[in-house]
Amino acid sequence: MKAVQYHQFGDPDVLVYEDAPKPIPAEGEALVRVYAAGVNPADWKRRRGRTPPEHAIFPMIPGWDMSGVVEEINAPQSDLKIGDAVYGMIRFPNPGLTYAEYVAAPLEDLALKPHNLTHVEAAAVPLAALTVWQALFDVAGLQAGQRVLIQAAAGGVGHLAVQIAKQHGAYVIGTASAHNTDFVRQLGADEVIDYTSTPLHEAVHGVDVILDSLGGAILADSLRLLNPGGIAVSIVDWNPPVELAQQMGVRVQSHLVKLHQAQLVEITRLIEAGKLTPYVSMVLPLAQARQSHEMLEGKHTRGKIILDTLA
Ligand SMILES: NC(=O)c1ccc[n+]([C@@H]2O[C@H](COP(=O)([O-])OP(=O)(O)OC[C@H]3O[C@@H](n4cnc5c(N)ncnc54)[C@H](OP(=O)(O)O)[C@@H]3O)[C@@H](O)[C@H]2O)c1
Repeated sequence: MKAVQYHQFGDPDVLVYEDAPKPIPAEGEALVRVYAAGVNPADWKRRRGRTPPEHAIFPMIPGWDMSGVVEEINAPQSDLKIGDAVYGMIRFPNPGLTYAEYVAAPLEDLALKPHNLTHVEAAAVPLAALTVWQALFDVAGLQAGQRVLIQAAAGGVGHLAVQIAKQHGAYVIGTASAHNTDFVRQLGADEVIDYTSTPLHEAVHGVDVILDSLGGAILADSLRLLNPGGIAVSIVDWNPPVELAQQMGVRVQSHLVKLHQAQLVEITRLIEAGKLTPYVSMVLPLAQARQSHEMLEGKHTRGKIILDTLA
């Protein structure tokens, strides 16, 4: 099969489009013909070598998100059948190997693709939407009526977070630069702050939950925006300012997304009900994965970039 892989960690140009062995599904796995692979910042971070040593396996096919069609099932029983259109986040944080024409995927990592999305749109969803779901509901316990601040609201995670928080009944404040403020408002945000012109503490106060995808000094600074007992959930900062938060009477916690099939099914229901729509700003052929990483590493793309494996 054709795949994109790298033979060493490094810049985007280590990504090469070449022949790779077609995977054979182990017991409990399905062989999926990948139609579209979603690109996430985690893909380029790993490509740069930001990963535990056990993940330094070469050649490495990047990617965790994908949407495609089941071609084989290696299991005595399965809710899925050959020909089903499926999507999922594969084996995260172990190598998911989705930048390829085929992937062998554990059955529990897959869900039926939302019927109202194309494969390209569906591949935008799993990792980012599961992150939002777990950060807002499992960690922060977001309630209807609460005020939530979504940092980087125009990004792959943020644009889904705005919609998910809003449909849950929260009051949503998003941050974005000027060229994205209309986009974030159209997603349903009640307020959008242009972080390039307005210091956050001048425009925002009294929030119950912060979804932080910026970390460091921005995370520490944002704690003062929280109501007493409020919580900031960081998806990027693995050393969050816990003591500072305690002194301020608020909480801060990191979260790494994990596989959760039932949550992906919930997310699918939301999409099929028309309450959550992924935004794909760019579709590239699989062979142009390098460009997708170059763009994502610039940290100013809107919504998601997707690789079309049929192109
Ligand atoms: N822990 C986990 O499980 C987990 C899961 C998913 C993602 N993540 C991490 O979360 C981060 C965000 O992921 P993503 O997929 O959303 O990334 P992304 O799509 O690359 O985010 C790009 C967006 O960030 C916005 N942005 C950049 N700097 C900003 C700032 N200072 N203030 C507000 N917005 C800013 C940009 O908007 P403008 O162009 O308008 O500035 C752009 O739309 C990444 O570091 C990723 O690795 C972690």
